[in-house]
Amino acid sequence: MAPLTAGGISPAFLKLLADERLGGLTVLDVGTGRGRLALALAPRCDRVIGIDRDESALAAARQAAAAAGLRNVEFVAVDAEAGEYLGFAPDVVAAHLCMSTAIAERAGRALARGAPFAFVAFHADQWRETGRRSRFAWSEDEAASILAAAGFSLEHLSVERDVQEFSGVEQALAAAIGLEEKWRADGRWFRYIKFLEEGGRTLTRAHLHVMARKT
Ligand SMILES: C[S@@+](CC[C@H](N)C(=O)[O-])C[C@H]1O[C@@H](n2cnc3c(N)ncnc32)[C@H](O)[C@@H]1O
Repeated sequence: MAPLTAGGISPAFLKLLADERLGGLTVLDVGTGRGRLALALAPRCDRVIGIDRDESALAAARQAAAAAGLRNVEFVAVDAEAGEYLGFAPDVVAAHLCMSTAIAERAGRALARGAPFAFVAFHADQWRETGRRSRFAWSEDEAASILAAAGFSLEHLSVERDVQEFSGVEQALAAAIGLEEKWRADGRWFRYIKFLEEGGRTLTRAHLHVMARKT
């Protein structure tokens, strides 16, 4: 399996999208954050709309688009799990690490028959050492059944997994240092410490790569 990239978008996922014809189409990037996926796809499409509820991330995304000279990308502040996507008139819905049943249902209602829905989601094993699943995490079976219920047929589903193994506690803590603040806030940090105290020496990153098509 290809390794996960540290800060970027997985080459394996981009390859999945590389086979998709995007010319002349409008892509909706759900949970765009700072616009990583939107900016990567913009040169290949007519228009990209990145939506997110985090205004500061969207401001950074707009700056990045301007710096890259991309004029066909726009970023809109919206709760992606509340409103519908039909108003954005997407031909394609994509997402990178922001996925939920509510998002899949909205994509299903907005897309035309045959339209692609491509995303990377956290796999249920992501950071399993912290004993707490992201609300965005799905197992393979969950992904398959949620997508079927939302009106999609599954063309590709794979798991990209990277299990780091550490020789000692210090190394294990150093690997998670960038996550400490977030994990302290949501309780995962203390569970990770407990895992290490009990002799655990791993940290798992696991992502689902999905290409589905509206039926
Ligand atoms: C893990 S980040 C991924 C960001 C971006 N796609 C990337 O890969 O860099 C998840 C993003 O989803 C956004 N998000 C989560 N729930 C959301 C919701 N209900 N509506 C809009 N955005 C949401 C967060 O604000 C955050 O920017």
